[in-house]
Amino acid sequence: MSDILSIRNLSKTFSVEGRPLPVLENINLTVAEGEFVAVVGHSGCGKSTLLKIIAGLETADPGGAVFLHGREITAPGPDRGMIFQEHRLMPWLTVEKNVTLGLWDKSRRERARLADEYLKLVKLEGFKKAYPGQLSGGMSQRAAIARALATNPQTLLLDEPFGALDALTKIEMQREIMKIHNGKKTTMIIVTHDIEEAVFLAHRIVVMSNRPGRIRDIVTVELPENRSRGSADFGWYKKKVYDYFFEPEEDTAPEFAL
Ligand SMILES: Nc1ncnc2c1ncn2[C@@H]1O[C@H](COP(=O)(O)OP(=O)(O)OP(=O)(O)O)[C@@H](O)[C@H]1O
Ligand SMILES: [Mg+2]
Repeated sequence: MSDILSIRNLSKTFSVEGRPLPVLENINLTVAEGEFVAVVGHSGCGKSTLLKIIAGLETADPGGAVFLHGREITAPGPDRGMIFQEHRLMPWLTVEKNVTLGLWDKSRRERARLADEYLKLVKLEGFKKAYPGQLSGGMSQRAAIARALATNPQTLLLDEPFGALDALTKIEMQREIMKIHNGKKTTMIIVTHDIEEAVFLAHRIVVMSNRPGRIRDIVTVELPENRSRGSADFGWYKKKVYDYFFEPEEDTAPEFAL
């Protein structure tokens, strides 16, 4: 696998009420073409900021940069799709129009075909003509996922895409994303709070420190593509990542009187 994305010496400091707020500190990471990378860390450690910089929606501090195929990222582009933490659908457009928003270069027929394909994938085929205000939170997020997938980007940036979904839909969507990844070999970077999700999806898990976010460690998940959540190996990786964030839990096994 050749490298597609290279993050070099990336730091980011915001200014809040006239004071500097360091959010990311010296991030260095290379992502291979077709790789699935998960980023986990506490709230506020800069995960969304990192994805926004890769998307070209936010700039890095001078001295740091992100390169895509060796070219420095300075703006958003159709080569990178992003699914945001919140759905960001246009409330005045139907679900179908929202999903085909990025497909302006395609014919009407092709747009309709892609809308059908991806709305079916996220199980919203009956809601093409609905408006976002008529959908539940989880349905809106599924529409946003369809919109990001429909443009078939080379790299997909996912910012807690399943956080608003119920537990069962979340598992279904994780499996669908995995199928898409395996089929299309899209490079994917997912930010998540959910350690199980990270172990289920990722080849490597980037563990971040608290703000300012630094890379504490990178865990390589050596599990087969079809992962079983119940397997001992799966549990081993989950525990390994949990242990970066939490003290070992006390042994609560009941004591038996002799
Ligand atoms: N545009 C901005 N201006 C000023 N501060 C910002 C801006 N965007 C983010 N921040 C601050 O940067 C820090 C990191 O924010 P970010 O959204 O990247 O965190 P996160 O790791 O994604 O958190 P969460 O898990 O809660 O989504 C926060 O303290 C936030 O207040
Ligand atoms: Mg965030």
